[in-house]
Amino acid sequence: MTQKQDTVTILAIESSCDDTAAAVIKDSKILANIVASQTLHSEYGGVIPELAGRAHQQYILPVVQQALQKADINLNDLDAIAYTRGPGLMGSLLVGSHFAKGLAIALNKPTIGIHHLEAHVAAHYLQDQLPEFPFLCLLVSGGHTQILLVKDFLNMEIIGSTKDDAAGEAFDKTAKMLGLPYPGGPLVDQLAELGNANAFSFPKSKMEAYDYSFSGLKTSLLYFLKKQKETDPNFIESRLNDICASMRSTIVESLLSQFEKAAIDLNIKTVGIAGGVSANKLLRKEFEKMAQKHQWRSMIPAFEYCTDNAAMIAIAGHYKFINNELGSLNDLPFAR
Ligand code: KG4
Ligand code: ZN
Repeated sequence: MTQKQDTVTILAIESSCDDTAAAVIKDSKILANIVASQTLHSEYGGVIPELAGRAHQQYILPVVQQALQKADINLNDLDAIAYTRGPGLMGSLLVGSHFAKGLAIALNKPTIGIHHLEAHVAAHYLQDQLPEFPFLCLLVSGGHTQILLVKDFLNMEIIGSTKDDAAGEAFDKTAKMLGLPYPGGPLVDQLAELGNANAFSFPKSKMEAYDYSFSGLKTSLLYFLKKQKETDPNFIESRLNDICASMRSTIVESLLSQFEKAAIDLNIKTVGIAGGVSANKLLRKEFEKMAQKHQWRSMIPAFEYCTDNAAMIAIAGHYKFINNELGSLNDLPFAR
C-alpha cells in the first residue's frame, strides 16, 4: 500500500448498461451516490444498446455534478477518477470511460479502470465491518451468475458459473413471458410476495460441480403457460402471483443449493451475495437462513449497493489506488 487509506478521495463513474451513476468516496466512506436509471428501455422489453449510449451522454454531466455537489467536494480535491472498464455494453462503456479520461486530462489526475463484477463484490467493503478472507460470494446480476472465491479485496477466482442464462435474465424472461415490463426482476419479486410458492412445480437443473443453468427453466415456463392457456385463456392474469412465487423459489433454491455445496466443500466460514438479484427478498432471507444453519458469517449488501451503482466502483477504486494500481489514458474501455 503506497498511501495512507484516509487521504484518498475518488470520483467514480458507472455506465456499463442502463444506469448512469456517479459517486464520491473519501476516507473509504461514501459521500455521494447518485444513480439515474434509464426508464426509456421499458417500452422495448429490454435494453437497446444504442439508446443506452445516447442516454448516458445526456445524463453523465448532471449526474457527476450532482455527486460532487452532494459530497461538497471540489474537482481539485480528487486524487483519481475511477470508471467501469467492462464488462458491459460497448456504447455505454465508451461514454463513462471517455468522460473519466477527459476529466482526468483536464485535472491532471490518474484514472482507474474497474472491473464491473469485481466492483459488485467490493460492495461488501462498504459495510462497517470488513469481511475476513477468503470468503465465498454468490454474484448474481443481469448478465452473470458466478460463485467467486474472494481471496483478498480485489483478488478472486471463479469456481462456478452459469452455462447459459444468468439468474437476472431468468427473472427478466419470466417477467416478459408474463407480460410484465422490463426490468422484470423487481416486479416478479414484488408479486411473488403475494403468491404461493408451492402452487406450481418447475424443474431445477442438475449441473456438475458448482455451475448453473437457467435456460431449461425458461423453456419449461414457456410450455407450461402455453398448455395452461389452452384451457384457460386468463390463466396468467388469474394466477400471476402464484406463478411469480413458484418461479422465484425455483431460481432461489437452485442458486443456493450449488452455493451451499461449494461453501461446505471449501470449508468457508464467511459468505456473501452481490449483484442486482441480491436485492431479491427471498434470496436475501434464504441466504441468511442457510448461513445461520451452518454458523457462517453472512454479508448482504444494502439495497442501493446491489443493483448497478457507482459507490461500488468507488470502493474498488479506493483499494486499487492505495495499491498503486492506476490506469492509463491508453486503456481500452473494456478489460480483456
Ligand atoms: O447488477 P445489475 O443491476 O446489472 C447487471 O450488472 O446486470 O443487475 C440487474 C439484474 C436484472 O436482471 C434485474 O431484473 C435483477 O438484477 N434484479 C432482480 C431484483 N432487482 C434487480 N431480480 C430479482 N429480484 C429483485 N428484487
Ligand atoms: Zn451490475
